[in-house]
Amino acid sequence: MTAPQVADEVLTYYSTHFDEHARLGASGAGVLELVRTQELLRRHLPAAPASVLDVGGGPGVHARWLVEDGYRVHLVDPVERHVREAADAGCTVELGDARDLSAPDSSYDVVLLLGPLYHLTERADRERVLVEALRVVRPGGLVVAAGIQRYAALFDHAAHGRLHLDGREERSGRVLATGRNEGREFTFAYFHRAEDLAAEVRDAGVIGTRLYGVEGPGDALLKAAETATGRQVQRESDLFTSALAAARMAEEHPELLVASSHLLAFGRRPGQAARS
Ligand SMILES: C[S@@+](CC[C@H](N)C(=O)[O-])C[C@H]1O[C@@H](n2cnc3c(N)ncnc32)[C@H](O)[C@@H]1O
Repeated sequence: MTAPQVADEVLTYYSTHFDEHARLGASGAGVLELVRTQELLRRHLPAAPASVLDVGGGPGVHARWLVEDGYRVHLVDPVERHVREAADAGCTVELGDARDLSAPDSSYDVVLLLGPLYHLTERADRERVLVEALRVVRPGGLVVAAGIQRYAALFDHAAHGRLHLDGREERSGRVLATGRNEGREFTFAYFHRAEDLAAEVRDAGVIGTRLYGVEGPGDALLKAAETATGRQVQRESDLFTSALAAARMAEEHPELLVASSHLLAFGRRPGQAARS
């Protein structure tokens, strides 16, 4: 099998155009994504010091708190800048691609895929990522896969009051119709319908899948408030506290998955871990 190549557009975007390291602290919606990702992961992860392979871990924002929680984390990412930044997070790091991992079979308790699936626009590539994750996680181990929700760009542009500007309506329409985002806003990406993400994960062989909306119905409201006021919504504010409560309440209502920008699928590799 030929070595996979990450699209130049994705590498350039993260290397020079966008500071991923700052993203989750730079807006109320970013902080909400961080807090909710933390609480969902903490709810499902095995007890520390389990081993976690953070594939597409970027600059290590999640790796840092996982290490602080006592996990042994190895981070893989194709962007040199991210790998350099993540080296400071207390994990081990490696330049690599989610479709072709160097890790041995059954070598991790948990594999996180919080990025790779939505940067691969071909289903065959996404399937390869999931098959690799199932190879390197131990039998019975946890696989967590993130998707960007199909309607996220529509809500995002509308909340920022710019959907009608500079051709965004047309580009967002293409994303709604095909799932594919091809630049200008963000970079090459695939936006999943919730049911399609669940099916891709299940078809690859992950069992017991459960899907969560990360940010919930307050996501676009936080963005609209920031656009209207020009100020970041603070974590201590009523608006943020209420958005967090709404995200938690929405978990029991799958029809509200469309309100979140990010989806997280949790599932397991079939089989039981061998007793040592
Ligand atoms: C939006 S960032 C997410 C970073 C972090 N995991 C998080 O959830 O905050 C997406 C990450 O996916 C990485 N990525 C893109 N294509 C990938 C691939 N083929 N294999 C592994 N990682 C990839 C990017 O380099 C980037 O670091």
